[in-house]
Amino acid sequence: MCGIVGYIGHAKAGEILLKGMRRLEYRGYDSAGVAIKDDNNIVIEKKKGRIKEIEQDNIIAGNAGIGHTRWATHGKPSDENSHPFFDCDESIAIVHNGIIDNFVTLKESLEKEGHEFKSQTDSEVIAHLIESHYENDLLEAVKKTISQLRGSYAIVAIHKDEDYMVACRNQSPLVIGVGTDENMVASDVPAILDRTNEVIYLMDGDIAKISYKDIELWDETGANVTREPKIISWTVEDAEKGGYDHFMLKEIYEQPKAIHDSILGRLGEFKDVDFSKYNIDMIKIISCGTSYHAGLVGKYIIEEISGIPCMTALASEYRYSSPSDIYPFTILISQSGETADTLAAAKEARRRGCKTLAITNVLDSSITREVDEVVYTHAGPEIGVAATKTFTTQLIVLYLIAIQLGLKKEKLLVEEADELRNQLRRLPRKVEILLNNTDHIKEISKNILAKSEDIFFVGRNINYPVALEGALKLKEIAYIHAAGYPAGELKHGPFALLTKKTPVIGICVKDQTYEKMIGNIGEIAARESPIIGVAEEDMELQKLCDELVYIPDIQPLFSPVLVNVVMQLFAYYTAYQLNCSIDKPRNLAKSVTVE
Ligand code: G6P
Repeated sequence: MCGIVGYIGHAKAGEILLKGMRRLEYRGYDSAGVAIKDDNNIVIEKKKGRIKEIEQDNIIAGNAGIGHTRWATHGKPSDENSHPFFDCDESIAIVHNGIIDNFVTLKESLEKEGHEFKSQTDSEVIAHLIESHYENDLLEAVKKTISQLRGSYAIVAIHKDEDYMVACRNQSPLVIGVGTDENMVASDVPAILDRTNEVIYLMDGDIAKISYKDIELWDETGANVTREPKIISWTVEDAEKGGYDHFMLKEIYEQPKAIHDSILGRLGEFKDVDFSKYNIDMIKIISCGTSYHAGLVGKYIIEEISGIPCMTALASEYRYSSPSDIYPFTILISQSGETADTLAAAKEARRRGCKTLAITNVLDSSITREVDEVVYTHAGPEIGVAATKTFTTQLIVLYLIAIQLGLKKEKLLVEEADELRNQLRRLPRKVEILLNNTDHIKEISKNILAKSEDIFFVGRNINYPVALEGALKLKEIAYIHAAGYPAGELKHGPFALLTKKTPVIGICVKDQTYEKMIGNIGEIAARESPIIGVAEEDMELQKLCDELVYIPDIQPLFSPVLVNVVMQLFAYYTAYQLNCSIDKPRNLAKSVTVE
């Protein structure tokens, strides 16, 4: 998964591209490059590493160009494997996001025709294919090229003798930024917001011819189409750090607002989906990473509130599961809406005849076109690679869906639904209280967690997935090995690992498992592991835990929202203490658009 930016207009393309690329670094950051076109040639400057490695002096003046930030899939990160790529005689330059499945065969036949390749990437075949089809018309050459490609792609191409860019997509996102006497194209909106807030979302199969004054579009059937630009309300500031040290911390602190925005207008009747159209007796929730953990919490939420049995699956497992694994109603959760495995799972669920609903944070993202229903989380852009506010708002949407389903199934009385909605209404304030009292969390992170090499997170019932998410967050950004466990399972293995050096974070919420949890904490204390409790105020726990982080009083069903904020802060302050690259953890990317 990579970030693409293209510009054509009258300003200095190099500066605009680099600025846009910086806003897309979360899509990939192992190499970066630009191709700038002046009157009669194209010059490429590209480097392994972050955008700052690019030699600014080597970027020529020109009013059109394409830029790219890469996350390696085929071919290791290196200068040669960085984008953009030239054809043989350096007339054509391309950038690509995605994977070309049939690149080996294409490369072999191009090499037989005499084309010389300079990289190990799948992407370079695109430049040479365009070259092989080029007869004074870049658009036609790209059209012929994509008819030969199998796989996923967002491509932008320029030619030294043509005064337009060609952009096309299939299963990888691409938007056009509509300006005045200039136009842009990018993988994602933040890259273009500096210059315009009018965007056209390209659909799979679309191909666009973009000059400084015109945008022409053709759909997958080849028909000339018009797509109305949408106005994006996100400001450039929305996509910047707003005074926090890291995007992640900013996004953690945005959670009260994100929850508020996600319940806004939805606490009366939830009108996003007309569930009366569907017969829902069982639900399957499919997702990846942090969204998977939201799905696991969602199972408890949906079963408790609506009484509908619910199963969860990892998208990467579901897509290859037996076709007999059919749950007529399937919920796909993906903050980006672009995760390749989740998209494939959505398609597979449809193929199996299931009705599908996507929960996503990104307007018009690819998943929205693969499902019957869409419910948006309104978290705003999330730049930190580690998901925070999008997880929280996924839970909020799951509560809203569960309440609606509970009413439909007559499991809930209207007054019970109202009481649940009241709980949701109070959540932003409770999260705010937590966020105003972080000193103790900082101390624990600094004095215990940052000094440890192995950490256990344990919880029960609805907070068991929160333990998984707490461990994932710590692994992702602080690079400390951590394992989430259902507290009742500790005795079936992990006990062997408990020592003075393995802190255990125990989530103790006053639900039906509370007493069992206190028992588990006692067992852990007997192994001398330092215990950090996360709980509401409680005398008994004070005796058993070495440290206690208090959360505001809350109904157990809603406790994951608060407990998880504590988990996020533990991970953040531990990573901060260890000087880790918090917003861009090594080897990870925000949106995994390849399998
Ligand atoms: C990547 C990100 C995770 C995210 C996962 C699923 O691995 O680093 O933070 O949870 O993808 O992403 P999605 O956009 O589908 O929720």
